[in-house]
Amino acid sequence: MRGRLGRGLANFSTGVPVRPNLIEIFINDESHMVDPKMTIFQACLHTGVVIPRFCFHEKLSIAGNCRMCLVDVEKAPKPVASCAAQVAPGMRIHTNSEKARVYRGAVMEFILANHPLDCPVCDQGGECDLQDISVKFGFSDGRFKEYKRAVEDKNIGPLISTHMNRCIHCTRCVRFTEEVAGISDLGTLGRGRATEIGTYISKLIGSELSGNAVDLCPVGALNHGPITYRNRPWDLQATDAVDLLDAIIPSVEFSYRGPEILRVLPKVNEAVNEEWISDKSRWAFDGLRRQRLTFPMRKNRDGELEEVEWDTGLKVLASKLQEIDPRTELAGLVGQFTSLESAAALRDFFANLGAKHLAWAAHPFANGTRAHFLLNRSIPELEELDAVVLVGCNPKLESPVLNARLLKASRKGMRVFKFGAPDDLGYPFIHLGNSEKSLDEFLAGTHPAFKALRESKNVHFLFSSELAREYPRARETLLRAKVAATDLAALSGGQVTAGILHNFVGPISGYEVGINYSSLEELPSKIKVLFNFGNDDKNFLAQVGAKLAPDALVVYVGTNGDAGASQANLILPSAGFTECPATYVSTEGRVQLGQKVVPPPYLAKPEWMILRALSEEVGSPLPYNSLEELRYRLAELCPYAFKYDHLEPFSPFSYAFEAQKAKPAQKNEKDLSFIFRSSVDNFYKTDAISRSSLVMNICSAAFNTEQLSNFPKKLYK
Ligand code: SF4
Ligand code: SF4
Ligand code: FES
Repeated sequence: MRGRLGRGLANFSTGVPVRPNLIEIFINDESHMVDPKMTIFQACLHTGVVIPRFCFHEKLSIAGNCRMCLVDVEKAPKPVASCAAQVAPGMRIHTNSEKARVYRGAVMEFILANHPLDCPVCDQGGECDLQDISVKFGFSDGRFKEYKRAVEDKNIGPLISTHMNRCIHCTRCVRFTEEVAGISDLGTLGRGRATEIGTYISKLIGSELSGNAVDLCPVGALNHGPITYRNRPWDLQATDAVDLLDAIIPSVEFSYRGPEILRVLPKVNEAVNEEWISDKSRWAFDGLRRQRLTFPMRKNRDGELEEVEWDTGLKVLASKLQEIDPRTELAGLVGQFTSLESAAALRDFFANLGAKHLAWAAHPFANGTRAHFLLNRSIPELEELDAVVLVGCNPKLESPVLNARLLKASRKGMRVFKFGAPDDLGYPFIHLGNSEKSLDEFLAGTHPAFKALRESKNVHFLFSSELAREYPRARETLLRAKVAATDLAALSGGQVTAGILHNFVGPISGYEVGINYSSLEELPSKIKVLFNFGNDDKNFLAQVGAKLAPDALVVYVGTNGDAGASQANLILPSAGFTECPATYVSTEGRVQLGQKVVPPPYLAKPEWMILRALSEEVGSPLPYNSLEELRYRLAELCPYAFKYDHLEPFSPFSYAFEAQKAKPAQKNEKDLSFIFRSSVDNFYKTDAISRSSLVMNICSAAFNTEQLSNFPKKLYK
């Protein structure tokens, strides 16, 4: 890599075209052609020369305050902070000269003057930038003999444990909270030796992305609270996988010891999560260890659940299924985390029985083509929008990582309009009310905000999937939004689209394999067997419960003892998303492959295996005996299922065609009575896994009551 561009330019006389916008600089006496907009640091990185750094981070603004990146530039009177200085034509940079060595050694000596000798007990030990850089660039001795300063630790929440003596004031955490998380809670206090990072007035860092500040901290000043003093990096094994607690499906790395997952770290995936994950993605995994269903169970005559053999459980269910008419007395519910494989097996199982009622917790927002149920924009495209219209949607709570993209776009000038509750999003927005009437005016094109949008070329209407839970006209409204979007696009000559931000991946799997969801009204009025496939939506289950026949058998196939299991009289335990390989589709339509990180506990089995065994019992076996065979079947149902990390290009023509084809009816004035509420009540407890998680419960108690001392730290141990 080094010098490649330079050598390319040397062929100038041979006719090789030269990119005119590049300039020539010299790094360690080698010629390189680089973009003049680059900093010295970027140019060095680009040409393969490594420069140590603490404060610089690619996703944050430049602070230039650690001085670790000093380089020696010829003719410059002083050392140059490479992260904050731009390249210039003919610049001669030395990163390995004696002067550069002395600059770095001196900075290291200065940083270590006040750094404690904590390495043997520090959680960052083994993966600490300061350790690594001081070994490579530090001097063997320091000249500062004064007492080291002491800084009080801060109480900023249950997820971050602080050891502020170790802070080197790089301000990455401060810039992250402000620029990515959209809060201004952290700052720098004092000057010189008295400089501290803190919140000024004691408060918790109330951001759903707060754990990323710990990842960014280059030293052990900020540590992950739930695993403080519980692990050493060299103890852990790691598997790359995906997380399902955010429907954009971020890429993550699970670190585990034996059968126990200890932490989740984000993996860089620029197209999806950049390098951030939400606190729920990071810490809710302990929900798969608590309240866990590990044995098949059946309710006895006294109404108590007792353990049974797998054979017994399956036989009870099979004989009940043979007694009823599946077409009119069987209903199935898709769960929050249902995979494509499970959804395909469920669809086939119901089809073999002649049953047709499969439902999802929300009113069926959209069935049919993908444009009806996906985001209809890639996540990076959201960054380039001129305006976004949020309908009943709070992306800060529904997908905090996606919200960080919107915040970035907002800082670049994107306008945000919002119908729904006026919740804080971390960036300014124009609130257009929370009534259906104002939304109706907007979609009819008579609202002043709609007229204002005519100047915007690149607009997206973002609907929350949660909206469909209570809003009876959600589907019709989304179709109207698509018609309005195509009309607006015709007026502005730009691209205007509408799509759904899902909160869970389960329903998307159902849509993808062609399940035609029944609405609550369409479900049978006397359900004799309710086959709950991991659905734990309490309100929805109560509504479905009202349709159960008195002697109904309610079967729950799932992971946790939550709303679904408490309604069931037969429980079949299934493997969680970290316990079996499976395929998922994100809210933007990207196919992601989940991996088996740890084995399922005790007798829990993958969902598709449960269905396969049950189909044998009922006498119409599913035609696949292995995951590979099931995936062949999946390929028939969902042609995209094996294009991992792939996003089908958005097709404006098919989208416009779908929108026009739908032609929803205009609403009556008297119908417009719906009031939009907050889409998520409690970010930390949205599903069975997070509700079972101790860490999420502690966060819920701490952040929702803002009680600084409301979390029992010793419970983590
Ligand atoms: Fe050692 Fe790094 Fe911890 Fe400092 S932050 S005590 S250098 S491991
Ligand atoms: Fe930097 Fe960590 Fe100190 Fe924040 S706490 S300023 S990230 S060293
Ligand atoms: Fe350049 Fe800190 S990395 S000053």
